[in-house]
Amino acid sequence: MIPLTMKRALYKTRMKVLKGVARTLPFPKPTLLSGPGSSLELCDALALLNTRRVLLVTDAMLVKIGLLKAIRARLTERGVDYVIYDGVQPDPTVDQIEAGVDVLKREGCDAILAVGGGSSIDAAKIIAARATNDKPIAKMEGLFKLYRATLPLYAIPTTAGTGSEVTVAAMVSDPARRSKASVLDPKLIPTMAALDGSLMTGLPPAITAATGMDALTHAVESYLSDNALPDTDRHALAATKLILTNLPRVMEDGDDLAARQSMAMAAFYAALAFTRAGVGYVHAISHNLGAYYHTPHGMANAIVLPYVLEYSKPDCLPRLADLARAGGLAQDGGSDAALADRFIEHIRTLNARFGIPDKLEALKPEDIPGIARAALKEAHATYAVPRYLDQSGCETLVRQILARDGTTPGYSQPGGHTVGDLLGGMD
Ligand SMILES: NC(=O)c1ccc[n+]([C@@H]2O[C@H](COP(=O)([O-])OP(=O)(O)OC[C@H]3O[C@@H](n4cnc5c(N)ncnc54)[C@H](O)[C@@H]3O)[C@@H](O)[C@H]2O)c1
Ligand SMILES: [Fe+2]
Repeated sequence: MIPLTMKRALYKTRMKVLKGVARTLPFPKPTLLSGPGSSLELCDALALLNTRRVLLVTDAMLVKIGLLKAIRARLTERGVDYVIYDGVQPDPTVDQIEAGVDVLKREGCDAILAVGGGSSIDAAKIIAARATNDKPIAKMEGLFKLYRATLPLYAIPTTAGTGSEVTVAAMVSDPARRSKASVLDPKLIPTMAALDGSLMTGLPPAITAATGMDALTHAVESYLSDNALPDTDRHALAATKLILTNLPRVMEDGDDLAARQSMAMAAFYAALAFTRAGVGYVHAISHNLGAYYHTPHGMANAIVLPYVLEYSKPDCLPRLADLARAGGLAQDGGSDAALADRFIEHIRTLNARFGIPDKLEALKPEDIPGIARAALKEAHATYAVPRYLDQSGCETLVRQILARDGTTPGYSQPGGHTVGDLLGGMD
């Protein structure tokens, strides 16, 4: 058994090496089109770039509600042939991705356009990687496992959350193994992305809230990361400001196009920050809640975020206070300690206002050791967290989100909301 102090020292050394890599490695940025209608400009660009036949990777729900209608019409108008693969579901699996690879090969597509939330974009990224890298998806998991550039890849996000359109990451789920793994490689960054708020006005409130809180979690975790850099700090603070201003607005009025556009930009900035600085324990735990219970990613983050911040607070007070200032929570002044508390309390208030519970109904006590083990394995491989957790500390933290801890039978969720309520209409 390696003693805890040595584990911590090894972890700190690994994170220092990763910081050096993040500082020196070139992270390409996609050419960015932004504003209502920019998704159609991206179609124009595909034609200009001589794309012959593009694979549209999306989910069936988006096709059903007609979200791709204008995009399809524009591609046809510009003479770009397309084939739709709409077999992606929230938290895409290897099978869904492989089915997309089959369509790509059968139809002889020369480019991929993802239209959808993080699930569609992540699936498209791995389909694009599989097209040029002759290795199974399982062998792509982890850092820098791709040896060739992907097929040309373009992205039109329809949620303002993951920022997958600009990140090095793609998540793959394996329900049989109860696992959710990441493929991390700068080659996965799309070459062009369009942030078109007009595609987001129909997002149901539950998805708007969950995805918006995912973006906030990216901003917060990257700002608190020991691997943060001046650039990632600027993007994280800008995203925090935009989200705390605009997320309540889009929750109030989903048709507020200016606020939707600002949220799309915020998700992009937050992702620019975390793709270099990394995330932290909130994501490590929430990925595993997703793997065990299929809890929507943003919702899991929103639930876990205040608990992780409370734990981390002693080692990152000034940084939490900065986030409060960026979010406009410091008008009445206050010490760093008071501002840090105000920031965490504000997240709790937003969650309650958006109908996000502070406990997870699906969580089972017997699963906690496994969830904690997998979360720590993920976090300690890549995330430079401000305050270290060991196995028993992580189990204690996860236990705090149990809806029923065995000592309080019949515990009911604040506001009477359940995860089931919030999932209404999600998939
Ligand atoms: N690659 C990354 O950098 C990164 C970062 C964070 C999260 N993720 C991953 O992304 C996935 C989550 O993505 P997500 O939160 O964007 O959700 P999602 O893509 O899973 O979509 C959630 C639901 O929203 C619906 N939806 C999407 N856009 C809509 C619209 N405009 N109108 C109506 N309905 C719409 C979809 O049909 C789906 O049912 C998770 O697997 C998560 O782990 C990836
Ligand atoms: Fe996320």
